[in-house]
Amino acid sequence: MSFSDDLRKLYAEQPILLAPMAGVTDAAYRIMCRRRGARLAFSEMVSVAGLAYANDKTWRLVVPADEEPQICVQLFGSKPEQFASAVEAVQERVGDRLTLIDINMACPARKVITKGEGSALMETPELAEEIARAAVARAQVPVTVKMRIGFRSDARNAPELARRLEDAGVAAVAVHGRTAKQLYTGQADWSAIDEVAQAVSIPVVGSGDVFTADAAVRMLRETAASAVFVARGSYGNPWIFEDALALYRDGVTPPVRDARERLAALREHLTLVHEHLPLMARARTFATWYLKGMPHAAQWRGRVVQCTTYEEFMALVDEIEADVA
Ligand SMILES: Cc1cc2nc3c(=O)[nH]c(=O)nc-3n(C[C@H](O)[C@H](O)[C@H](O)COP(=O)(O)O)c2cc1C
Repeated sequence: MSFSDDLRKLYAEQPILLAPMAGVTDAAYRIMCRRRGARLAFSEMVSVAGLAYANDKTWRLVVPADEEPQICVQLFGSKPEQFASAVEAVQERVGDRLTLIDINMACPARKVITKGEGSALMETPELAEEIARAAVARAQVPVTVKMRIGFRSDARNAPELARRLEDAGVAAVAVHGRTAKQLYTGQADWSAIDEVAQAVSIPVVGSGDVFTADAAVRMLRETAASAVFVARGSYGNPWIFEDALALYRDGVTPPVRDARERLAALREHLTLVHEHLPLMARARTFATWYLKGMPHAAQWRGRVVQCTTYEEFMALVDEIEADVA
């Protein structure tokens, strides 16, 4: 069996994957989603240049928590030799729980593309291929690539690039249906995802505007993608993974989660952050996601941004619970 076949099998078991999101998909976030149906989850992207001098704090972005059975690690950079060393280092640190290594050719952030990294690699396909070959040569796990449909609208080269990467030994590609220039605006073009899936024999993961279980199922049915990424659609809705799978497999309509259940999930998420990473500032962002649509949500949002400690957050949830009851 090839690595592509292995991935195809994993995708078939649960085709709804937690997408990589820098600043979001830390261990706590991933565990929230895993406890609700996500099987394959990605780390936040890490710099191959940074890994060469990584301290334990950087490695914490890569190495899964004890509770996590697996991890997909996403790397970004622009130097083939740095990718080769990073692949070896990640394999050594993560060990058996490493499912795959993904190369980021999708990130549109200015500070990334000005260095020729992320989505800028779509404009330098020779270098993109060289990087993929360097990673594949050292990898004992599948190497995948996440790209956009093109860097700009007049250069939508995802199908060509995907074919080239397939030749270089890449086991699967993911396509976010926007150009890099679009950032996160406009509507994702799912037909462009389908075009890539038609152009290659390796499995393709579709990404873009999967905000509901229904959208996940539609992308799977309307495109030739083997799996779909849920990114912003998991904000305050870690249930989307089990909901989408139940809808896809058995036609089960996703249940409505009431305020009580959402607040319990927020408590659980806060506790995971407290236990796994001392980054309570992140809680200010995700806490407001769970409060969306609740009575007095605007007022609670104002209070959330004032919280700094775990204890303050939990005391606030007590108040909100009392208000909702
Ligand atoms: C806050 C944030 C951080 C992201 N970070 C990454 C990243 O590190 N690597 C990556 O490949 N994509 C990243 N993405 C892109 C997502 O994985 C996904 O492809 C994109 O958001 C489109 O999906 P959506 O419309 O369902 O959100 C990020 C997106 C968001 C919103």
